[in-house]
Amino acid sequence: MKRDDFEFNDRNNGPDRPDSMKPTRPFDPTPVITIDGPTASGKGTVAAIVAATLGFHLLDSGALYRLAALASIRYEVAKDDAPGLAKLIEALHITFREGCAQLDGVDVSGEIRQEEVGNRASAIAVYPEVRQALVARQRAFRKRPGLVADGRDMGTVIFPDATLKVFLTASVEARAARRHKQLMQKGFSANMDDLLRDLRARDDRDMNRSAAPLRPAADAKTLDTSGLSIDQTVEQIIGWYSAIRV
Ligand code: DC
Repeated sequence: MKRDDFEFNDRNNGPDRPDSMKPTRPFDPTPVITIDGPTASGKGTVAAIVAATLGFHLLDSGALYRLAALASIRYEVAKDDAPGLAKLIEALHITFREGCAQLDGVDVSGEIRQEEVGNRASAIAVYPEVRQALVARQRAFRKRPGLVADGRDMGTVIFPDATLKVFLTASVEARAARRHKQLMQKGFSANMDDLLRDLRARDDRDMNRSAAPLRPAADAKTLDTSGLSIDQTVEQIIGWYSAIRV
């Protein structure tokens, strides 16, 4: 740093700082609630309700990984070509409008929920180049009055200064049953044994990758939702948040 920079900071941060430079109110960063957890732990549904209840913005970071995965299929970038995937992601035209995910202006909300896309998202998410290419896009969602961000590394990597960090867990059987119900409701066929096998494989990959593995942040509150309803889970999270913000 140049000598001039030191003098500038010394003068303006010291007790003789001019009134015009003094803060009028304490610094209050935009609040963020991070909700991390394994596939089908209910975090997506819970995050959307918490965000709507508080009037906050919502980041479904898994949807970004799924959009990247879908684009890699469409544009035929190999799932192990990390530099190629990063380049593709940087050039992607992604928008979220009224709950719909758009790729190049076309609604792909249904397509990105397919198991094939989810599995590919998990496969490309192991590469640090891919993760890095998505960092700025994720942080750009932090806007007033606040953000609820759901994913795997929201509390550990993307928003380490989050106001509240939640880690949702549920048994693999409970998650497979939820995923089965979700897929049937959307009109996709699903087989429980296949779902269990896929979930176990995806958990294993998400938890054991070296880049931003799925794990609770040291300061996260963990909640096992196996026996909880969505409403009970939401209530607990809002309760934790209200206790911090009083
Ligand atoms: O939450 P989801 O099932 O939609 O996410 C799809 C995949 O994307 C998941 O298996 C791993 C990856 N992912 C990730 O690595 N980090 C995130 N923050 C979100 C998703």
